[in-house]
Amino acid sequence: MFKDLVVVVTGGAQGIGRGIVQEYARNGANVVIADINKELGQQLKMDLLAQGHSVLFVETDVTKEQDIVSLMQKVVDHFGTIHILINNAGKFQHKSLYDLTLDEWNDMIQTNLTSFSGYPHPLKEVKASGGCHGIGKEFFVQAQSRFRTQLCEA
Ligand SMILES: NC(=O)c1ccc[n+]([C@@H]2O[C@H](COP(=O)([O-])OP(=O)(O)OC[C@H]3O[C@@H](n4cnc5c(N)ncnc54)[C@H](O)[C@@H]3O)[C@@H](O)[C@H]2O)c1
Repeated sequence: MFKDLVVVVTGGAQGIGRGIVQEYARNGANVVIADINKELGQQLKMDLLAQGHSVLFVETDVTKEQDIVSLMQKVVDHFGTIHILINNAGKFQHKSLYDLTLDEWNDMIQTNLTSFSGYPHPLKEVKASGGCHGIGKEFFVQAQSRFRTQLCEA
């Protein structure tokens, strides 16, 4: 169903992202695991390669613009383009708002909210391929749907 499509999953090394990576791989896509966790990302890549799937791991911190630019370049160099971007990487501070520091708050916002949709490079790459930008954050839907409309409209 997704044969030959190039799918980038941020936060793809564990949790929900890992499941998304595995499903796209099983359905024939070329999958890119973009995650800050090198150990888990490399391990998942090796497991999927051993099963005969097409997969790439790129160590990426989605809060860093240079990492995102570098990720896009590596994906295009390796697979030629990007059709689907799943903006899944996220983190949640399991503590009361009264105990949250400003740095922790800013890190959460940067990871969950800004990251990929704050930078034009990946969006332009996906748009150029004729693909769509996937959605990953429930509280992000409003802003995301504006981007999605821009990206997916004919
Ligand atoms: N699990 C839930 O119940 C739930 C509910 C609603 C929304 N979500 C959202 O779904 C997404 C995935 O949730 P999950 O439960 O699978 O989380 P998880 O913590 O199990 O996995 C998150 C992944 O993102 C990666 N990551 C974290 N910061 C990163 C960064 N700066 N750069 C790159 N990768 C980074 C982690 O290494 C990890 O692999 C998150 O955005 C989360 O907010 C989860």
